[in-house]
Amino acid sequence: MAFDIEMIKKVYENLAERVDKARELVGRPLTLTEKILYSHMWEGNPTQAFTRGKDYVDFAPDRVACQDATAQMALLQFMHAGKPKVAVPTTVHCDHLIQAKVDAKTDLKRAKEQSNEVFDFLSSISNKYGIGFWKPGAGIIHQVVLENYAFPGGMMIGTDSHTVNAGGLGMLAIGVGGADAVDVMSGMAWELKFPKLIGVKLTGKLSGWTAPKDVILKVAGILTVKGGTGAVVEYFGEGATAMSCTGKGTICNMGAEVGATTSTFGYDDSMSRYLRATNRADVADAADAVAPYLTGDDEVYANPEQYFDQVIEINLSELEPHLNGPFTPDLATPISKMREEAEKNNWPLNIQVGLIGSCTNSSYEDIARSASLAKQVAEKNLKTKSQFTITPGSEVVRYTIERDGFIDTFDKIGATVFANACGPCIGMWDREGAEKEERNTIVHSFNRNFSKRADGNPNTLAFVGSPELVTALAIAGDLGFNPITDKLINEDGEEVMLDEPTGNELPPKGFDAEDPGFQAPAADGSKVEIIVSPTSERLELLAPFTPWNGENILGAKLLIKAFGKCTTDHISMAGPWLRFRGHLDNISNNMLIGAVNAYNMKTNNVKNQLTGEYDAVPATARAYKAAGVPSIVVGDHNYGEGSSREHAAMEPRHLGVKVVLVKSFARIHETNLKKQGMLALTFDNEADYDKIQENDVFNFVDLKEFAPGKQLTIEVIHDGGEKDVIVVNHSYNAGQIGWFVAGSALNLIAAAGAE
Ligand code: F3S
Repeated sequence: MAFDIEMIKKVYENLAERVDKARELVGRPLTLTEKILYSHMWEGNPTQAFTRGKDYVDFAPDRVACQDATAQMALLQFMHAGKPKVAVPTTVHCDHLIQAKVDAKTDLKRAKEQSNEVFDFLSSISNKYGIGFWKPGAGIIHQVVLENYAFPGGMMIGTDSHTVNAGGLGMLAIGVGGADAVDVMSGMAWELKFPKLIGVKLTGKLSGWTAPKDVILKVAGILTVKGGTGAVVEYFGEGATAMSCTGKGTICNMGAEVGATTSTFGYDDSMSRYLRATNRADVADAADAVAPYLTGDDEVYANPEQYFDQVIEINLSELEPHLNGPFTPDLATPISKMREEAEKNNWPLNIQVGLIGSCTNSSYEDIARSASLAKQVAEKNLKTKSQFTITPGSEVVRYTIERDGFIDTFDKIGATVFANACGPCIGMWDREGAEKEERNTIVHSFNRNFSKRADGNPNTLAFVGSPELVTALAIAGDLGFNPITDKLINEDGEEVMLDEPTGNELPPKGFDAEDPGFQAPAADGSKVEIIVSPTSERLELLAPFTPWNGENILGAKLLIKAFGKCTTDHISMAGPWLRFRGHLDNISNNMLIGAVNAYNMKTNNVKNQLTGEYDAVPATARAYKAAGVPSIVVGDHNYGEGSSREHAAMEPRHLGVKVVLVKSFARIHETNLKKQGMLALTFDNEADYDKIQENDVFNFVDLKEFAPGKQLTIEVIHDGGEKDVIVVNHSYNAGQIGWFVAGSALNLIAAAGAE
């Protein structure tokens, strides 16, 4: 599907030289992760060794993938880069805006009616800028990427945290915010802190009831939800090579649940098989030719303790199936202990629904193995006790499993097949009765199981397991059922046992689909019109931000002095506001509504200095903007921590805030503010935070001398005319000062392109 073999060949052409050079610079054998990182340096060939967990490095990713929710603002911004086409191969996938309710056909039709304007916009803008567009119903971003675009040794970024799924094909694939995607699509470098490395050695071999999912459920139990932060998890060993490529994808997918930057596996025969089965024999051949460069050096895997920051060893021959949950994916319980744990914790044993599929687990192998269990329901005269649903990861998977009779098998146990989309995995599940908020248990093969994640009910206890275990549990209807040892009573009152699941790794008759749902972009997009209705409440074309006028900022009024924690959620709340992600003015009505005003300890209640009245933060900001008065936000430590959401920087910029002055920043938010042409400053003396008063007005003294490493001075005029002079720091380099001067990073790119 228009994957770029020429681009892949180019990556492989340079690989040997770059990896050999890196080995020389680092002075020791290299892990696969290091090989991929050093072969994707922004400047081309590596020139220095970097310190893991410390150095920030500019990279040149090979691809970008965006899902429909995050793509909207990213592409609206990209329009301002002034480029005729994206700088690297990019795809957009419509998967998040489709709610699961009745069945695939009905749900897809409804989603197209409800989100038509978003799909039309994404389709037209993709067509214009050379972006591959996957229509609603084509599949879930990560499955489609694995089937079409992921390649061993590649580096990609995607605007979704489970982009990491592509590690199953030996990539370094990393989830990022829209701002990073815009940079890469516009031809800029992408910055990442050189990650730490966690090695996971897999010995033995999976068999029987144990599946790849159990590997990551076990790893999550060991590392916990924070244990992978700032690290890449690299899997190796005989257990890794014996596993299917899609199984590897499942493991990498849930690396997001341990907070890892990403996860990956070295190139092996399973990847070659998968590439060939998905019509990419040319990629497999190209990878075969450079195979030693697509995996870690032998010495690294022989003595991992010397080369990784942390090593975990798991013997797959002894690994038991696990169920993780409820409410957190790292609470790992082996299935043999589940009944005891459930009884101890008072978890309802009665399973209401079993759900398989999603981006995490909807490979042919997953479905085939689950179907082998569903088939036994009729053969052994059983009755399925729980409801059962399947969310295929792509139309290719759905068509193929239907052709091979699996959907029919699931139908016979009363299953519902949802659309090839995120659905219940992302909370887009309109589950009947969920509003009653009854305490209940579900089991699923997805990745996340936080409170309300699947159906919005805070009292749904969700347990994560392999698709085959979920199927067995749904048949039994009992959370404590251990299919390895326990018998079921069939409709004749006889005791029967389920046979172990079996299934092909890949379809013997090959993958197929009548219409995979892909729209290739126009060869020449210059005449393509981008479709945005002027009356839309969900989409709005952006106006470029105005450049700096070259003068000191004078008379800026304090908008809010935020007390304590102020995360990107406090600055730009999610939930119902997600609907307005593509409409900057509408979503700006959530700006800082979660931040606590340090003067009255209330949220969304600040003094409008022009009227003396208290009002909502966005309304007050709008009042200043309308009066032509600049405003300033003051904050505490680690301001802007949390997600990389670019809206948290765009909204204040849009509503006339010129400066964010805090004790310290979360780094990504600080960079996002800089990119939007704002002044992100920190107090030189933290105690000056206490000097800021509710009616303060700020005058910059020396902004005209704004230069790297040079502090700035601000006069703070208090009520009654008294003043303090404070010194502030900044971390702008010369290029970033250029962003400020131009009004935004994109303005600068556009100006450079126009010259
Ligand atoms: Fe994400 Fe699952 Fe969709 S984790 S991409 S939500 S299917």
